[in-house]
Amino acid sequence: MEAVTARAGANIALVKYWGKRDARLNLPAAGSISVTLADLETRTTVTPSPELDFDELLLDGRSAPTTRIAPVLDRFRMVSGCDLYCRVESTNSFPTGAGLASSASGFAALVVAADAAFGTGLDDARLSEQARLGSGSAARSIFGGFVEMAPGSRDDGSDAVASPLLDAADWPLEIVVAITESGSKSVSSTDGMNLTMNTSPYYRAWVESVPADLERARAAVAARDFDLLAEAGESSALKMHASALAAQPGLLYWNGATVACLHEVRRLRAAGTGVFFTVDAGPQVKAICLPAQGAQVAARLADVPGVVRVIETALGPGAGVLT
Ligand code: DP6
Repeated sequence: MEAVTARAGANIALVKYWGKRDARLNLPAAGSISVTLADLETRTTVTPSPELDFDELLLDGRSAPTTRIAPVLDRFRMVSGCDLYCRVESTNSFPTGAGLASSASGFAALVVAADAAFGTGLDDARLSEQARLGSGSAARSIFGGFVEMAPGSRDDGSDAVASPLLDAADWPLEIVVAITESGSKSVSSTDGMNLTMNTSPYYRAWVESVPADLERARAAVAARDFDLLAEAGESSALKMHASALAAQPGLLYWNGATVACLHEVRRLRAAGTGVFFTVDAGPQVKAICLPAQGAQVAARLADVPGVVRVIETALGPGAGVLT
């Protein structure tokens, strides 16, 4: 069998996924809306081989545990009827563990490469389902541009898949990531959302508030209404963090520079720049900018005390095999 290489872009949720209706299948408690990024990507090569006695993973050149990828490969082995173990080599174009969601691009690239290597020929919805079983947010990285993840209602999760809302080229927003701490050791998204679900008195209210944000964000994307997207996006991020802050013990993902960046983004917007913020389960700030405004926002965020570096990227395409 041949080695297959696939790539997938990381994604950033504008309406957040934070909580599950089924932890085993990563079924989200509510929907989410994200943008897929062009330049923050994972490239993964899957090589099934009769010479292997178990799966192997090389992550950015280093041997890594296969605990999370072996169940994904098992499903492709089961569907294809081919029981070969695989060598998996995965590289990220951005620092792993810097709060930049490498699991999303990682699992999306893995399932696309495995699908081609095992010849299973799954369609995008089924690839999204397989990616979700690796990590909830990975279901969205199968698609490019603006993407919506459905919570689904079936117990088997077959309807909890993502679908595209709008191509990147149709509204080429720009993203600036302000890194305020490198190699940060935050509580992982999985652990953070579990703790929030189990202990936060605000968790229910958070989940109940998501459909209204989804509706606003969907309408904003359809109408290319940046101000409406900014309102929905900032509100979703702040409410997600409010629910996490109220967990026991409280999850405080932000540092001083994170907060300083949030204020800087609001100052820029008040002065007329098209920009809004979002923050995931870590201290980095992601600024979503109108087309052609990314460079100015990047320069301003780079000057905020405590910002280590900034990364600029366009929105990008969905996951695919590299030929
Ligand atoms: C804050 O997809 O990493 O980035 O499903 O447990 O693997 P698991 O969690 P994960 O959570 C992402 C949470 C988030 C918000 C988002 O991406 O929607």
